[in-house]
Amino acid sequence: MIPLMKSAFYKEHETRLKLSEFILKADQLSMSEQCYQFEEKFAEFCKSKYAILFNSGGSANLALLQALKNQGLLRSGSKIAFSALTWSTNVMPIIQLGMEPVPVDVDPNSLNIMSENVKELIENNEIDALFTTNVLGFAGDLDKIKELCTNNNVIFLEDNCEALGTELQGRKTGTFGLAGTHSFFVAHHMSTIEGGMICTDDEDLADMLKIVRANGWDRNLSAKKQISLRKRYDVNSEFQAKYTFYDLGYNFRPTEITGFLGLVQLEYLKENIIMREKNHNFLELSVLNNEDLVQIEHNHLNVVSGFAFPVIAKTSALRDKYFAQFSGAGVEIRPIISGNMEKQPFFKKYVTKAYSLPVADKIHDCGFYFGNYPELNTSDLNILSNCLTKY
Ligand SMILES: Cc1ncc(COP(=O)(O)O)c(C=O)c1O
Repeated sequence: MIPLMKSAFYKEHETRLKLSEFILKADQLSMSEQCYQFEEKFAEFCKSKYAILFNSGGSANLALLQALKNQGLLRSGSKIAFSALTWSTNVMPIIQLGMEPVPVDVDPNSLNIMSENVKELIENNEIDALFTTNVLGFAGDLDKIKELCTNNNVIFLEDNCEALGTELQGRKTGTFGLAGTHSFFVAHHMSTIEGGMICTDDEDLADMLKIVRANGWDRNLSAKKQISLRKRYDVNSEFQAKYTFYDLGYNFRPTEITGFLGLVQLEYLKENIIMREKNHNFLELSVLNNEDLVQIEHNHLNVVSGFAFPVIAKTSALRDKYFAQFSGAGVEIRPIISGNMEKQPFFKKYVTKAYSLPVADKIHDCGFYFGNYPELNTSDLNILSNCLTKY
């Protein structure tokens, strides 16, 4: 059996030992120094000015849109474009915050929204923001997309929960937009069991995210920022200030366990990414030689950092054939993320407008993925390569 993932952490035993020691010794387990240190180190890794830690990637997505709404940059009714091929909690926050989700079809060769898709989108719609997903370690031509968004006053956001470590133009995905979100759920690139992060270079947004993360209060802002906020709202006593809620928020705080695991796993992240990329390059050779399967285009990327290997057959009948090949060899497979988001019951319930999304439909009907992780051994890789071969 080759499961979607084999362990919760990279260097599982070592990490669990370190975690148990930490839990026994730590004075505080609620959000504190471990979380702040992880934020600092993660921001360095991504070359972002700010990184704000959350208890999941999904809550990071909701917090990001809430923060932009609190800032007045987005409103109820704002039109938010998103990749039709994504995860539920990329789209749900758009609906939960009273905004209008506009699905954008992806490119058949890259699985991602490309600048050509964005050009067409902007020509035909009044869009306030684009919240793109960097799908399964791949990404669109984000530099060109950013330029299009800037020139058309569209806020550009990246859901990078599936592409931590992917690079184009020597820059990490998740850092092209105003903000990028990440997930540290198990089976992602690095795991803190549950966890998420938002990277941004925008100081005001970073501050608002800290307010949104912790109930709407100002306790995680700098002393200078607290003074100015308290002055603006006429809050004069320290006694009162600690229980003043300045804007809409949630309790999305991580724990010190999240921060500690983040620091441990971040140390291994570079080698972890290299091993996944090596697996990817090896497996891709079988796809290159197989006319039944779609070759995913990534020449514009310097690094492809995925935790899964997507397989797109040219027809649904061929998908069934490869489905049987993988299942027969004991390989666990699953749909490409969750297929075309427009087909999901929650989406149909809240969005009545129908969109034409032929590529997402095709991927929904002809695609599946299996796990790509450092613990795959030579025998696993040979089994997977055989499954990708045309017989
Ligand atoms: C694109 C995308 N966005 C958001 C999330 C949510 O992350 P989490 O599971 O940490 O809430 C996921 C989860 O896999 C995802 O794939």
